[in-house]
Amino acid sequence: MIKIKDSYPSPLPPGPRKLPIVENLFDIPQKGRVWLEYSKMNQRYGSDIIHLGALGKSFIILNSAKAVSDLLDKRSGIYSSRPHSTMIAELMGWGNTVFFLPYDDAWKAQRKIFHQAIPPGDIARFHPKLLHATHNLLQILARTDKIMEDLHSWVGVFMIDVVYGMQGEEVRDYLPLANQAIESVAIAGTPGNFYVDQIPLLKYVPEWFPGANFKRKARDWDFIRAKITEDTFRATKEQASNTATSSLVSVALQQIEPSEDVLQREAHIKEAGVAAYSGGSDTTVVALASFLVAMLINPDIQAKAHSELDKVLEPGDLPTFNHQSSLPYVKAIVMETLRHQPVAPLSFPHLLTKDDTYEGYFIPKGTIVMGNAWSIFQNEEDYPDPTRFNPSRFLDSNGKINPNVRNPTTHAFGFGRRSCPGKHLALDSLFIAAASILACYTIEPELDEHGKAIKPNVEYKSTMSLVNEPLPFKCRFVPRFKEVEVSLRI
Ligand code: HEM
Repeated sequence: MIKIKDSYPSPLPPGPRKLPIVENLFDIPQKGRVWLEYSKMNQRYGSDIIHLGALGKSFIILNSAKAVSDLLDKRSGIYSSRPHSTMIAELMGWGNTVFFLPYDDAWKAQRKIFHQAIPPGDIARFHPKLLHATHNLLQILARTDKIMEDLHSWVGVFMIDVVYGMQGEEVRDYLPLANQAIESVAIAGTPGNFYVDQIPLLKYVPEWFPGANFKRKARDWDFIRAKITEDTFRATKEQASNTATSSLVSVALQQIEPSEDVLQREAHIKEAGVAAYSGGSDTTVVALASFLVAMLINPDIQAKAHSELDKVLEPGDLPTFNHQSSLPYVKAIVMETLRHQPVAPLSFPHLLTKDDTYEGYFIPKGTIVMGNAWSIFQNEEDYPDPTRFNPSRFLDSNGKINPNVRNPTTHAFGFGRRSCPGKHLALDSLFIAAASILACYTIEPELDEHGKAIKPNVEYKSTMSLVNEPLPFKCRFVPRFKEVEVSLRI
């Protein structure tokens, strides 16, 4: 806990006026799409860096690409730790997983595993898995009547393959538990759900004590976390010597040097595995869902993508990664999806580990730092008419990706040394999914009982959450060619 003092060497960054004792307790957005509220504060206080203080904690929100780059990138040595969560890290046992680790040697060891097992320059080794998963997705979409649910199930199968190399029936044994583990973190991570995060001493309250339901919940959730972490790892390790297909965990196991502390390294691989599954699942679902929504409500943009694809592919052919350079418009659609409805608009909070000064403002050690990608993506200088879904903004006059337009993938995956280690895998999976769906289908509105198209009305979740997820919506995937039905056997 840090104290917001009046006697700092320079003023704190601007923000709402602090009241005695409670400071900004009532200014901190408590519900809904909080990134919008922080964006408004940016305008209200005329500053791209906003300070709030409450309950002995200090927060800053960075609302511009410049502030994010100056602090989270250029000073990442002191801006890369994580705030501690008593509920998640201690009581639920996630404290040794890369997401929740402070900026320490264990974190570095786990990031190294990601770097070696899914190196940004060699994602191609995962391409066969991505293609296989995408072809399954095309078949699922042909029959779906509950898109969000089906996307969640599909992504679970896909991520278990990428992370553990498991396919077929075996996967079904692990999916329910893995998804419960993710859900438990989402519930526990929603600010205000558990007082133990505000008053850590509550962790000592015995389970039987009235009101200590959180302790029983935490115990159950810890059991689920431990079981899925251990079981998936053990199964992959047993298979690694014979059948397991190449995966993040199997590659990391093969990379252990005999001179290393094998047990410790295996413990890190285990944690990296469960972090990859949790970090890559909901995020990929949400990005894909936002892509489908954008196509549904922008038929003109879909038509442009279709015409680009039809110049490159014969009817019924499916795109491969070799087509990437010939499909700049599809690539721009993926970029615009990540900009227009960022998956994690406030990323994940960072923690400052040393007092700092920026632009004349003092930022105390222990401050929780959030980069607001939403504000960055609504900047009119970088993205004119920012509320409009317009992939062409990323293309030059020759129809190629314009390197002079700020690439949203720089900020859509977080910041500095903490930025997402699955970014390149995610981008490839989004590209191939978008290109394949558009090659095969027209995404059309649902029809009413008279066969008339129902005007799509898609809304985004307004409950407090780290991810920006569309609410369940309906649409139809209409095959574009007879050949598609034949090649997908639908
Ligand atoms: C569209 C898909 C994805 C999006 C938008 C996304 C976004 C993010 C964001 C915003 C962060 C927080 C970064 C920060 O703290 O500044 C993050 C962290 C992370 N992501 Fe992703 N992610 C995606 C897919 C994936 C995939 C496929 C994997 C695994 C293969 C993955 C694994 C992780 C891990 C392990 C972290 C924690 C990094 C750390 O704390 O050092 N993500 N991601």
